[in-house]
Amino acid sequence: MRRHILIAAALMITTSAHAHNGVKDPEVMARMMAMEKIGAAFKTLVSMAKQDIPLHQAKARMARDTIVMQSGKINGLFESPATDPKSEALPTIWEDWADFSAKSGDLTKAGLALDFKDRAALVDTLAGVGLACKACHKNYRLKKD
Ligand code: HEC
Repeated sequence: MRRHILIAAALMITTSAHAHNGVKDPEVMARMMAMEKIGAAFKTLVSMAKQDIPLHQAKARMARDTIVMQSGKINGLFESPATDPKSEALPTIWEDWADFSAKSGDLTKAGLALDFKDRAALVDTLAGVGLACKACHKNYRLKKD
């Protein structure tokens, strides 16, 4: 199960790399850049969990801080229903704003709960972060995870 989540998470990152190339709307670009930072931090932690790279405390802490900080910006960045032909944001975000904004809060909480004292703790708590990404993308992002 945990392994399954990690693999799904890793796939999600790979398929979404540079989805923002050619985006013209500055608000759409800003929210995509925040997502990309979240994605890069998540990818670092997944690589540590999978032992592709060593578990490094300072790097793990930086990645955790990025997830917590950038997830705290999601609501402000997505509040305006800006569009762009390249955007993968679904209109349901603004139809169901209360739920969308709660899901960004769930990601912040999962980020704060990250524990990387050892690999087992990281694998456990990273699964919660991966689920928070999926819970939001499932309803509010065009491309399926
Ligand atoms: C509250 C909702 C929400 C949460 C939580 C969330 N995302 Fe997203 N994410 C979105 C939406 C919506 C888009 C599409 C934005 C657009 O194209 O305008 C997106 C886009 C992305 C992109 C593509 C960025 C680009 O360059 O176009 C990546 C990568 C990404 N998310 C990674 C993650 C990861 C990893 C997590 C969890 C650690 C996560 N997201 C959590 C809503 C969310």
